[in-house]
Amino acid sequence: MNILVTGGSGYIGSHTVVELQNAGHNVVVVDNLSNSNEKSLKRVAEITGKNVDFYEIDIRDFNALDSIVGKYHFDCCIHFAGLKAVGESVQKPLEYYDNNVCGTVNLLKVLQKHNCKNIIFSSSACVYGDPKIIPISEDCPKGNCTNPYGQTKSMIEDIMIDLQKSDSNWNIVLLRYFNPIGAHSSGKIGENPNGIPNNLMPYITQVAVGKREKLNVFGNDYDTVDGTGVRDYIHVVDLARGHVCALQAIEKKCGLEIFNLGTGHGYSVLEVVHAFETANDLKIPYVIQPRRTGDVAVCYSDASKAEKVLNWRAEFDLQDMCRDSWNWQKNNPNGYDD
Ligand code: NAD
Ligand code: WQD
Repeated sequence: MNILVTGGSGYIGSHTVVELQNAGHNVVVVDNLSNSNEKSLKRVAEITGKNVDFYEIDIRDFNALDSIVGKYHFDCCIHFAGLKAVGESVQKPLEYYDNNVCGTVNLLKVLQKHNCKNIIFSSSACVYGDPKIIPISEDCPKGNCTNPYGQTKSMIEDIMIDLQKSDSNWNIVLLRYFNPIGAHSSGKIGENPNGIPNNLMPYITQVAVGKREKLNVFGNDYDTVDGTGVRDYIHVVDLARGHVCALQAIEKKCGLEIFNLGTGHGYSVLEVVHAFETANDLKIPYVIQPRRTGDVAVCYSDASKAEKVLNWRAEFDLQDMCRDSWNWQKNNPNGYDD
C-alpha cells in the first residue's frame, strides 16, 4: 500500500515506518519536526535499506498537505502528528487544541478532498480516564481526562466517529496505546525527549547514563502490589507492528474500529526499576515523592480484541523493553544530537 505517515520522524512514527517498509509498503512522511529530528529517518533507511520520502510540513497547512496528497495516490494515512506532553498541555491548552484538533480536522479535509478515506489514528489509553473496569477493554466507557492533551485525543476520536457516521466510505481505526517504551534492537532509533523527561522509562535511562541523579517515584501509597502506580508497558516495536496489522482492518473496509494496543500485563514503577536493573546489571537510585497530580493508580489493557480481530499480540516482555531502552540510550546519550 502507499501510506502517508504524519509525525513519522517521531518516536512511534519512526519505528512504524521501519515495520511498514519491512512489510513492503511505500511510505511518505510529513512532519514539522517540532518534536523530532530528520536524522531519525536516515537511521530508518540504514535499518531497512530503503529511503523514506520526507516533507517538512505542518499538518495545519492546508495547501502544503494538499499538494503532497494530490501528488501521491495514498491508500491510507497513519496519523501520529501531535503534541504529547501532558504537563505542557495544562500550561498551553490552546496550542494543544490548535495543533492536535485543528491539525487533524485539516488533515481529514485534505484526505477527503483527494478521496483517501482510510485512516489509522494514534489515540491513547488516557481516554479511559480513571478506568471503571480493569483490565480495560474497548467497551469500557471513556472517562474524564484530567488534562488538555487527553481531551484532544478524546475529541479527535469523537470527530472521527462522527465523520465515519456521515460517510460510510471512511474506514477509521482508533488505536488506544498503553505505555510505549523500548527501542529498535539495532539501537539506531529510539525515544528522544526534549528537556526533563515526563515519562518513566526515559527518566530511568537518563539516570542510568548519568544525566540525572536519581529517579523520583511519584507515590508509594496506591492500592497496588507495592504502593507504586501500575501501567501496561508495551515495546514500541510491538506497537509499530500493531499498525501494520491494523491495515488489514482498513483493507477489509472495517468502518469504524477501536483497538487497545497493550500487553495485558500491569507492572508497578518499582517492578520496572528492578526489571531495568536486572536486564542491564545497573543500579537506579530512587527517592519516593508525593503522588503526581492527575495520575491514576492502575491502568492496563485487555488486549484480546486486537488478537482476535487483527491477529496481533505483543511479543516482547519487560526485560526486552528494558534492554532495548538502555541499548538506545547508551549508544546515543544525546539522542540524535551527536
Ligand atoms: P513524538 O513527539 O515523538 O512524535 C510526534 C511527531 O509529530 C513529532 O515528530 C512531531 O514533530 C510531529 N508533529 C507534532 N505536531 C505536528 C504538526 N502540527 N504537523 C506536523 N508534525 C507534527 O511522539 P510519539 O511518542 O511518537 O507519539 C506519536 C503519537 O502517539 C502522538 O499523537 C501521541 O499523542 C500518541 N501517543 C503517544 C504515547 C506515548 O506514550 N508516546 C501514548 C499514547 C498516544
Ligand atoms: C508511568 C508511571 C508515574 C515518571 C503518560 C500519558 C499518556 C501517554 C503515556 C502520551 C506512573 C510514574 C513517572 C517519573 C514516576 N502519553 N513515574 N516517576 O502517566 O501512565 O502516561 O504517558 O502520549 O497519555 O498520560 O506514563 O511514564 O509518565 O508514568 O514515578 O519520573 O510512572 O507516576 O505511575 P503515564 P508515565
